Amino acid sequence: MPDAVSNRRTFAIISHPDAGKTTLTEKLLLQGGAIHLAGEVKARGQARRARSDWMKIEQQRGISVTSSVMTFERDGITFNLLDTPGHEDFSEDTYRTLTAVDSAIMVLDAAAGIEPQTLKLFEVCRLRSVPIITLINKIDREGRDPFELLDEIADKLALDVSPMSWPVGMGGLFEGVFDFESGELRLPEGPAREFLGKIVKTTGAEDPVLADYLSADGVARVAEEGLLGREGYAPFDFEAYRNGDLTPVYFGSALKNFGVEEIIDAIARYAPPPRPQPAQDGEIGPERDEVTGFIFKVQANMDPNHRDRIAFMRMVSGTFKRGMKLTPSGLGKPIAVHSPIMFFAQDREIADTAEAGDIIGIPNHGTLRVGDSLSEKNEVRFTGLPNFAPEILRRVQLRDPTKTKQLRKALDDLSEEGVIQVFYPEIGAQWIIGVVGQLQLEVLIARLEAEYKVEAGLEASPFATARWITGSDAALADFEQFNRANLARDRDNDLVFMAKSPWDVNYQQEKNPELTFSATKER
Ligand code: G4P
Repeated sequence: MPDAVSNRRTFAIISHPDAGKTTLTEKLLLQGGAIHLAGEVKARGQARRARSDWMKIEQQRGISVTSSVMTFERDGITFNLLDTPGHEDFSEDTYRTLTAVDSAIMVLDAAAGIEPQTLKLFEVCRLRSVPIITLINKIDREGRDPFELLDEIADKLALDVSPMSWPVGMGGLFEGVFDFESGELRLPEGPAREFLGKIVKTTGAEDPVLADYLSADGVARVAEEGLLGREGYAPFDFEAYRNGDLTPVYFGSALKNFGVEEIIDAIARYAPPPRPQPAQDGEIGPERDEVTGFIFKVQANMDPNHRDRIAFMRMVSGTFKRGMKLTPSGLGKPIAVHSPIMFFAQDREIADTAEAGDIIGIPNHGTLRVGDSLSEKNEVRFTGLPNFAPEILRRVQLRDPTKTKQLRKALDDLSEEGVIQVFYPEIGAQWIIGVVGQLQLEVLIARLEAEYKVEAGLEASPFATARWITGSDAALADFEQFNRANLARDRDNDLVFMAKSPWDVNYQQEKNPELTFSATKER
């Protein structure tokens, strides 16, 4: 693998709201030298905490492009940090963003441990064996006992845990953080009791020098509790981490700069460089010469005056050069990528080249869709970017019937972006939209009004879920003939069975064994 590729780390932070993702992001960027950006991330955090509904929705969309992908460099390593939408509902958007990373950092609040959103996001990572580095954050405040926290991670996530550092007290008793491997003790300084670079080098947890810097309790915390922690859990195992079976755990306080350097170093040292991605004819790895990639996210209407869209492509292989022609699988004919966007933290920038692991933004007018594969020869089809059968289905009610055309356009656009799924029933004119999380409904209504000037409401639909149906033409035609009232077409004109209950799905599946009823669809 060329150095440019082996030195790339593409990752995301997963956490429950308020655990400290924004703060850690800001500190990672500071460490990475993108100092002037720190305020921007902070501003974003504050805006979110204003918590007006609109802000919440904006947040769900990932406020601005610049925050979607943040690239920074440190010690010859290029870090691509992908922002995952920070709302409480699981959304397809989040899932897809996680398909584009090679590893993740899991941030936990030391007082809260594993929270529901952390668990859901973790499960998504597990599906793809994405390796996880854990930061137990906010140890400058009262938190739970470190052993209890480690046990909870191990139990709830069925994962081996390996403490890499130990908190010397928490909250009012906080005296610093001890790193097992290097033997370094990091100490708080100044009125804010933050880490400003004061490190004591020791020969280990029992080094008498610790007594010069810590209280008697603090010394015991390192020598007794710490050692017990180190020995009571699995030692760090590189392979187990890379396979997603073990997580190294760091204790820290993003706010007070503890654990930040350790996390960056851990990503640099342990996290995988660009990994091969699943494709129809086996995996495609970064060693392939041809430029290939896939679209994991589309963001539309970033500027309300221009109906521009940015499709986010995760590069899987090759060296992309500006102006290159790539063929999207959904289109079949090549497009020239003249003005790709590289997401350097500070601003949009025109990219000249990009390597495997990088994300590039491709401006387009709707030709590129989530799930599209792009390649030079148009032979590669990446898999694993599914649409999920929606769990919430609603009929769309247009307030002003003259706006039917605008509504259709809006629904098509938003389904391309992955905000919703849309189903056009074979009988009747009331379109149905499907989502996997409740918040997506609010986003839909708000965006219809704000961006498309369409006032619409949602009403209950008789359907509970949907299944994509495949089978021979004859079997499909047969089924269609008798079930028209329960059939719809999706945005790609694929046939969908609208089921009134899960029972309904089973019943039809048994009655029609020659057809496949699928809860996911890959484009
Ligand atoms: P999120 O993106 O995961 O939702 O969390 P965010 O970083 O916004 O942090 C949520 C709150 O927790 C913020 O406080 C932030 O300052 C605080 N915080 C983050 N990391 C730490 C830490 O290590 N220690 C302590 N004590 N607090 C931490 P806030 O009051 O909501 O906002 P702010 O006004 O302080 O910015």
